Amino acid sequence: MRLEFRQVSKVFGAKAAVDNVSLSLEGAGFTGVIGRSGAGKSTLLRMINRLGDASSGQILFDETDILALSGKAKRDWQARCAMVFQQFNLVPRMDVASNVLHGLLGRRSTLSTLFNLWTEADIRRALEILDRLGIAEQAGKRAEALSGGQQQRVAIARALMQDPRIILADEPIASLDPMNAQVVMDTLKRIQTEDGRMVIANLHTLDTARRYCDRVIGMRDGRVVFDGRPEQLTTGVAREIYGADASFSESATSTAIEGLGPDTKYAAALMGD
Ligand SMILES: Nc1ncnc2c1ncn2[C@@H]1O[C@H](COP(=O)(O)OP(=O)(O)OP(=O)(O)O)[C@@H](O)[C@H]1O
Ligand SMILES: [Mg+2]
Repeated sequence: MRLEFRQVSKVFGAKAAVDNVSLSLEGAGFTGVIGRSGAGKSTLLRMINRLGDASSGQILFDETDILALSGKAKRDWQARCAMVFQQFNLVPRMDVASNVLHGLLGRRSTLSTLFNLWTEADIRRALEILDRLGIAEQAGKRAEALSGGQQQRVAIARALMQDPRIILADEPIASLDPMNAQVVMDTLKRIQTEDGRMVIANLHTLDTARRYCDRVIGMRDGRVVFDGRPEQLTTGVAREIYGADASFSESATSTAIEGLGPDTKYAAALMGD
């Protein structure tokens, strides 16, 4: 499988949130996108599954121009590249199994969805996925009763229900404590290696990018300013990506630089190994 950006831009008013990006991702790798707040990471990710349309350029998946898709073809594509969000986006008062089954939305008729008329095979599959992710015993609980890390695994289970080729994760661990963050990243890594799915994740800590990604894309002001293997992500390169001055340190993250982080200990704890 191959995902290719050809001179893709996304303009909001006078500002190019994504500025003439060309890159190509081959096979089932784990790609991390890093960069400071406002660099265009989310905008880039959202264009892939058509949550936001590009202003110009092409995005090709195995030679299909996905920006040109409409109607059913567009919905089919959206099911093939499932999105995972920082805030999980579950239905809080609904039970976990039903949240997972909602991954089939768009593949089932509105009526059967409305009345929760899932087939036995669907339900079995949802439970199998929950079991695989280590949260089968939570299936009957309301989503809101789970920890953040568990909720994010439910969101990943919901994504897997679509059997996607690509998982797009927008800051999947930014709301989690270090231990839950690790469980969620390990889960995404397993899905990539065991199932052969392409994972693209926006990440705000360098150490996470280094630890989990085969490839890291650094964005600054809408442009790709770094594209390479994690070991090429030296302090100097990171400083360029984040636009930080000489005080920039190895352990710093975009959140820490921006001073917006809920807790800078978070980054430090993740640096552990
Ligand atoms: N819907 C929108 N309308 C106007 N401007 C937008 C919109 N979405 C994003 N932008 C602008 O585009 C730029 C890129 O935003 P984007 O959300 O992609 O950045 P990001 O790298 O994901 O940042 P963060 O790390 O804070 O999530 C920013 O300047 C932002 O203000
Ligand atoms: Mg973002």
